[in-house]
Amino acid sequence: MRAQIIGLGYGLPERRLTNQDLEKMVDTSDKWIVERSGIRERRIADQPIKCSDLAYQAAEMAVQRAGISAQQLDLIIVATSTPDMFFPSTACIVQDLLGATNAAAFDLSAGCTGFVYGLDVAHKYLLADDCHYVLVIGAEIISRILDYEDRNTCVLFGDGAGAAVLGKGSDAYGILSSVLGADGSGAAHLSMPAGGTAMPASLETVQNRLHFLRMNGNEIFRFASRITSEISSQVLQKAGYTYSDVDIFVPHQANIRIIRTAMKRMNIPAEKTLINLDKYGNTSAACIPVALFEAEQEGRIKAGDLVLLVAFGAGLTYGGVLLRWGRD
Ligand code: COA
Repeated sequence: MRAQIIGLGYGLPERRLTNQDLEKMVDTSDKWIVERSGIRERRIADQPIKCSDLAYQAAEMAVQRAGISAQQLDLIIVATSTPDMFFPSTACIVQDLLGATNAAAFDLSAGCTGFVYGLDVAHKYLLADDCHYVLVIGAEIISRILDYEDRNTCVLFGDGAGAAVLGKGSDAYGILSSVLGADGSGAAHLSMPAGGTAMPASLETVQNRLHFLRMNGNEIFRFASRITSEISSQVLQKAGYTYSDVDIFVPHQANIRIIRTAMKRMNIPAEKTLINLDKYGNTSAACIPVALFEAEQEGRIKAGDLVLLVAFGAGLTYGGVLLRWGRD
């Protein structure tokens, strides 16, 4: 038995925020953003759109494409750092919207690695006899926690959601191996400092702009450049493959320079690498499922392809999943 992705979906807000738009908001330039990150535009969800709305949009499509009913879902995982609220979980809100009355539901906090973490959890859940279908969603409205006075961060991120339904299948397709990890000593490098129990919301926290994402870009850059190829190597090795066996490489869409470093180290060419950060920026947990959805639509991923997913993010977290694309 293998856990197979049997349906994908996505939800992207309509509004585009281009680098030229950002030039009017902060001291930046299209040239700087493109050269330093590779991003040209990103999507922004305006109020009153909530994280659960994008998640639901992606989820409904994934369930439909899987060819199952929402009632058949056993578990819903929403990977997000920007939930509708602290509690209840966004997963419970999506469960209700879908009418997935037989599913347990929880949110998963692993930053941009959330979707990869979610796939690993789904994979392990599906080994159990009483679990048949798991829905994993990566959904973010990062724009709502971005400081549009901070050029170091506001140019990098965008909003969106992607979802995958996983079911059980034969050994021919599905997840072959996965590796998850974390280095909590780097927690301070990417965080939203206030609003939790460590620093509850107060007039002062709002005035000091502590409810926005804070990032040490250089530290994350160094970490990401190292970890992407390291995790790729581990997850491939675990399943008995090497870099040259990879048909499609799906890296986290944070920065084109991080992706190029990994491609170079692993000797994976551009035609095997999925890149969409130019259009959407870093949509955190949504990056990988949106990239998979688009690639499948465009016929870039075919049944039988060896697909390598790798992500890193707040935590610091990191993870990789290797799968043989397709379903029975
Ligand atoms: N426009 C213009 N200049 C900018 C800018 C912007 N949007 N953002 C930063 N700068 C400036 C800096 O202020 C700095 O100026 P200074 O030298 O006068 O102080 C200069 O550009 C260089 O900054 P530096 O941090 O060295 O740039 P960089 O080339 O390393 O790129 C990041 C910065 C943030 C793009 C890069 O470090 C990065 O992508 N890090 C990883 C972030 C990430 O992936 N986060 C999500 C993880 S899931």
